[in-house]
Amino acid sequence: MAKGFFISKTVGIVGAIVGVAAVSTIIALSVVYSQEKANNNQLTDEGTTSKPPVTTPAPSNLPWDKYRLPKSLEPDHYNVTLWPRLTPDKTTGLYIFTGDSSVEFRCVEETDLILIHSNKLNYTKFENGHLATLKSVSGGKAPSIKSSWLKVETQYLVLQLDGKLTKNQMYQLSTKFTGELADDLGGFYRSEYMENGVKKVVATTQMQPTDARKAFPCFDEPAMKAVFHITLIHQNRTVALSNGEEKESSNINMDGQAVQMTVFKPTEKMSTYLLAFIVSDFEFISENIGGVLIRIFARKPAIDAGQGEYALNKTGPILKYFESYFSSKYPLPKSDQIALPDFNAGAMENWGLITYRETALLYDEEYSSNSNKERIATIIAHELAHMWFGNLVTLRWWNDLWLNEGFASYVEYLGADNAEPDWNVKDLIVLNDVHRVFAIDALASSHPLSSKEEDIQKPEQISELFDAISYSKGASVLRMLSDFLTETVFTKGLQSYLDEFKFGNAVYTDLWKHLEKAVIESGTSLPSTVHEIMNTWVLQMGFPVVTINTATGVVSQKHFLLDSDSVVTTPSIYNYEWIVPIKWMKTGEDQESVWLNEKSKTIEAMKASEAQWVLANHNVSGYYRVNYDEANWEKLLTALANDHQLIPVINRAQLIDDAFNLARAKIIPTVLALRTTKYLIQEREYMPWDSALGSLDFFELMFDRNEVYGVMQEYLKKQVTPLFEHFKNITDNWETLPTGHMDQYNQVNAISLACKSGLEECQTLAKAWFKKWMDTKINPIEPNLRSTVYCNAIAAGGAAEWEFAWSQFKSASIAIEADKLRYALACTRQPWLLNRYLEYTLDTNMIRKQDATSTIVYIAGNVIGQSLAWDFVRARWTYIFTQYGGGSFSFSNLINGVTNRFSTEYELQQLKQFKEDNAETGFGSGTLAVDQSIERTIANMKWIAENKQGVLKWFQDEVKP
Ligand code: BES
Ligand code: ZN
Repeated sequence: MAKGFFISKTVGIVGAIVGVAAVSTIIALSVVYSQEKANNNQLTDEGTTSKPPVTTPAPSNLPWDKYRLPKSLEPDHYNVTLWPRLTPDKTTGLYIFTGDSSVEFRCVEETDLILIHSNKLNYTKFENGHLATLKSVSGGKAPSIKSSWLKVETQYLVLQLDGKLTKNQMYQLSTKFTGELADDLGGFYRSEYMENGVKKVVATTQMQPTDARKAFPCFDEPAMKAVFHITLIHQNRTVALSNGEEKESSNINMDGQAVQMTVFKPTEKMSTYLLAFIVSDFEFISENIGGVLIRIFARKPAIDAGQGEYALNKTGPILKYFESYFSSKYPLPKSDQIALPDFNAGAMENWGLITYRETALLYDEEYSSNSNKERIATIIAHELAHMWFGNLVTLRWWNDLWLNEGFASYVEYLGADNAEPDWNVKDLIVLNDVHRVFAIDALASSHPLSSKEEDIQKPEQISELFDAISYSKGASVLRMLSDFLTETVFTKGLQSYLDEFKFGNAVYTDLWKHLEKAVIESGTSLPSTVHEIMNTWVLQMGFPVVTINTATGVVSQKHFLLDSDSVVTTPSIYNYEWIVPIKWMKTGEDQESVWLNEKSKTIEAMKASEAQWVLANHNVSGYYRVNYDEANWEKLLTALANDHQLIPVINRAQLIDDAFNLARAKIIPTVLALRTTKYLIQEREYMPWDSALGSLDFFELMFDRNEVYGVMQEYLKKQVTPLFEHFKNITDNWETLPTGHMDQYNQVNAISLACKSGLEECQTLAKAWFKKWMDTKINPIEPNLRSTVYCNAIAAGGAAEWEFAWSQFKSASIAIEADKLRYALACTRQPWLLNRYLEYTLDTNMIRKQDATSTIVYIAGNVIGQSLAWDFVRARWTYIFTQYGGGSFSFSNLINGVTNRFSTEYELQQLKQFKEDNAETGFGSGTLAVDQSIERTIANMKWIAENKQGVLKWFQDEVKP
């Protein structure tokens, strides 16, 4: 089915390109390498695990000790040839790649030093005795290389010259090198899978943020844009892909092997972190939309089963949607998307060749839930949005990452909404992003969206920026901005921003400038400039709680902290005051808007009569919480009880989430928060239910090991029973599906809560479905319900159920099914099964590396697995840290995941000890998460002490017959 892949006639032996046999290369290079090492005490061997010196080295001012490149050189274009070997080297057993690369650069400041990024590459020495050759391109003679060596810590190839490079002259630097094609999910790496009993290997890349330097020497900073001429050498009958279109493919002979050489057309001017090189024997499906070739690549069986069709059908329309949203044509002739068996993140926006986890791209009606489908639509939209915002215009440095990721995380909803207009997916940003990040941004250990350029230097510091603040808070404040400017003004500013900086770089304030221009042109009136308003959201951490007194009309704001006793040590120039756009309504009146741009002010219109309630933050378009005077809360509760439809559905979800969090911060009584869940007995909509379940999750974590638990479950069972009955009715006794997307989600919530809270009918149902599957080997369970049904059946069962699910996991033909089982396997209540499962997470034959941390977190989510997972992580931290680095978000998720339930003095001490014990190894992208976990544990301890009795009593009263 690989239609149209073009292979030209054999052109015989191509000369010296990457022309060293693998084995001899490794040996030769390791010799060169150790010589270089001996010659230069700067060099430490990255291959060995030498301990860092005990004393901290004195800060050095040498250029190669700094993490940022000097400004003296600017790349223009590269010629890179890479040859990944998809079989292991016979002597070393290692998978490797060889490469040669030349870069033409301009000297912009006279210098006798060349620093270029390089990590874990071994170089072949040239005749000049050095790791590179240098020549002048614009005529004249280049200075000779005096010494060349590798600086491991800061990841440079260093070349000291015997004379200066001349300003404005062009030079060309060439290298030959070997690297390991490891299974480490970063740089040029390998992914493996089985097909018909045969092991297959894919060579692929993940460069963002700082791993392009692991594939070839390059100026690996986002502002060092250049044009890339890529050539890949690959085994016959494999397909080579890169960012650009294939220019030609020929059969050649390399070191006595017949192989293929694919040359790609030069890329646009782009950043190194967006490069991608892939060799596989994948198949594809394609279509051409408005001159853009769209292809979906995956393992052959997946393509044959039609699993790429959904992605293919949605990509074209989403691309068209963004072309019009950005008012800018997609600048490349093709858009490839590929599903990889091993992939650390969810997806990566390489320009023209987007890479995905299989679960994020492949869809199969027989196996995929509506949630899987939604994720595919939104993730495609997210990555396609980056084609403009991030790729065409790139932020100058990683400190502005929040704007890149926050923007894509906002407009992914717009793109997905366009592709699936019936879903109302735009509303879900409130649950998925706003509520999610509120929980983190309300901690004293949070941090502002924006970081200073000089504070972000090391690769770990860059990786740490890929967090919920950048993604979800970024998305939330941009949504707020688009809302108060109106979409028309917002997109106008956006369009002129993209137009000014296309193929170049910008800083976040450049976007504000363009938005300001659009504001002025449109005559929009704002209380201040875009820059001033947004600074209050971007430069200080946290968000306000806006308090409305409906008796006096006084509206005030205060920094919202989940733990009212926590001390904020980070000063803010805005004194933790924000310029807050408030959309609000009164019973039966039209919606109004005001700005709160001081600590407190009186808004006469907000005074309510005896019969009226006030509700603010309409549709949660603002990034803040709202509190009211007691009388207004009572009126809102009455409205919920009597006619909840009077309150917009998103705000019903918000009232619950706000109330629970205000209670945790001791701003309102916990009982008031609990009372917001009473009306749920009549609620049939997804968002309020999901918000309540999210809020009650905290109660569950705090109480599932003590006596509150039983009575709380009884209350929940009472609340959820009518919802369960409702879905049973509208689905003809679980035979059909509810029609709406949100209703389908709520059906899952109804079943999972009903089963969890002990509704027998639900548990019987889940067990019977699972048993039928075990008996008949034909799975009768509807895909939407699988995760929760599997989980409940495995929790209720023993080893037989677990083993059955494990064998289904191992033989699943689609990753989406395997993932549901992988999650459910963590639901067993047998400690020995959980411990064995934990062991599996560090065995790549059992669980893929990409899935290790999330599996541990699933196990920790189980009340019985919690302490087992914590012991496991503590005991193996160094191993996990070194083996599963990969530069993704996983460490913060792992630490937060295994410490979520912590609420005792004993657990706090363990956590502090963990921090101390591993100070030397470090926590990488989980550094902040350790402090957040300590803060959270302290807050949890206090919360339980203060609330347990009251909560127990409230539930007891509610379930009294
Ligand atoms: N650029 C990121 C992928 C990435 C993440 C690279 C972390 C390096 C480190 C990509 O655009 C992204 O954000 N992917 C998300 C999906 C999105 C829908 C939130 C992901 O991988 O989860
Ligand atoms: Zn992204």
